[in-house]
Amino acid sequence: VRTSTLTADAVERGAFRHFMAKEIHEQPAAIAETLEGRVSDDRILPEALGPDASRLLADVRRVQIVACGTSYHAGLVARYWFESIAGLPCDVEVASEFRYRAHVVAPDTLFVTLSQSGETADTLAALREAKTLGYRATLAICNVPESSLVRESDRVMMTRAGPEIGVASTKAFTTQLTALLLTVIAAGRAHQLGRDEEARLVRALRQIPRQIETVLGLEPRIETLAEAFIDKHHTLFLGRGTQYPVAMEGALKLKEISYIHAEAYPAGELKHGPLALVDADMPVVTAAPNNDLVEKLKSNLQEVRARGGRLYVFADPAAAPAASDDCQVIALPSVDEAVAPLLYSVPLQLLAYHVAVL
Ligand code: BG6
Repeated sequence: VRTSTLTADAVERGAFRHFMAKEIHEQPAAIAETLEGRVSDDRILPEALGPDASRLLADVRRVQIVACGTSYHAGLVARYWFESIAGLPCDVEVASEFRYRAHVVAPDTLFVTLSQSGETADTLAALREAKTLGYRATLAICNVPESSLVRESDRVMMTRAGPEIGVASTKAFTTQLTALLLTVIAAGRAHQLGRDEEARLVRALRQIPRQIETVLGLEPRIETLAEAFIDKHHTLFLGRGTQYPVAMEGALKLKEISYIHAEAYPAGELKHGPLALVDADMPVVTAAPNNDLVEKLKSNLQEVRARGGRLYVFADPAAAPAASDDCQVIALPSVDEAVAPLLYSVPLQLLAYHVAVL
C-alpha cells in the first residue's frame, strides 16, 4: 500500500471550465517541475538520468523511440534534437506498428518509450518485445511512477506533470518535450555537445515557463480567432522542421475535441497534392519561429494565398509574414530555436480548446 501525496487541488477543476483548460494553464509550473533538480544555472546535473547515466549514454550509438498519439509526436520532435544536438541517429515509430513487425537492431541502440499513463497497451507490448531484441537499455519517459512501463524499464525519467485528467493531452506533451530535451542534452554531452552549447540550451529551457506564461496571456485573442473555425469542416496545419510534428499535434488536438477534420503536412509537401484542397473554406494554421527555414515557409504560405486560402500564423515578430485580410499573424515571444516546439504547441492547444467550446 502506498499513500498518495497528491493534494485535492491536483484532481479538481478549480475555477476552470474544463480540465483541459486547467491543464493548459498548468504548463509553466509543470515544466518547471520537470526541470527541478535536474539542471543548475547552465548545466544538466549528472544524476538527472540516474546513476551511471553518463557511461550508458557514452556507449549509445543509436536511439529508437516508440509511443502512441501525442507521445508519438513528442518523439518525432526529439528525433530532430537527437540528430542535431547529440549527433545520434534516431528512429521513431508508433507502438502499434513497431510491435507487429520484424526488427534489425543495430548494436548499442537505446530503446525509449514515451507515455503519459505508462499503461498504453501497444507501448507496453512494444517494450516487452524490445527486451527480447538486444537493445543496449530501455528508458521510459513517463508521468505515472506506479505504472507498468516504469516498473518494467531499465531506466526512467519522470515527467512530473501531475495528474492529466483531460483526454486531450496537453501538459503531458510539453513536459515530455522537456524531459526529452534534457535527455538529448545529456546524451549530447557524452558525444559532441560543447560546454557553451549545453549552457545555451539549459538557459533556453529555464526561460520557457515564463515565455509560456506570456503565450497564455494571448488566450483572449486566440478565443476570438477560434470563431473563424467553427463553421469549417476541414483545417490544414503546416510546419517545417520541428514545427512539423508540432503541426501534427495541433491537428490531433483540433480533430479530437472539436470533431473538425484536421490534417498536418510538412509545408514543403503542400504543392505535391494537398494544395488542390485549399480555398477560403479551409483555414491554414502554421507556426513561423525565427529559424533558417522561415523564408521557405513564407513561400509556401504564398502558395496558400494564391489559392484564396486564409492563413493563421503564430510567429516570431522578427520573422513574421505581413498581416493582411487573408493572413492573421499572432506574435509569440522570441525563443531559442531548440525550445520553439514547446512554446508553439501552446497556442495550438488553446485554439483547439476554444473551437471545441464554441
Ligand atoms: C490516447 C489519448 O488514447 O492515448 C492521447 O487520447 C494519448 O491523448 C495516447 O497521447 C497515448 O497515451 P500515453 O498515456 O501512452 O501517452
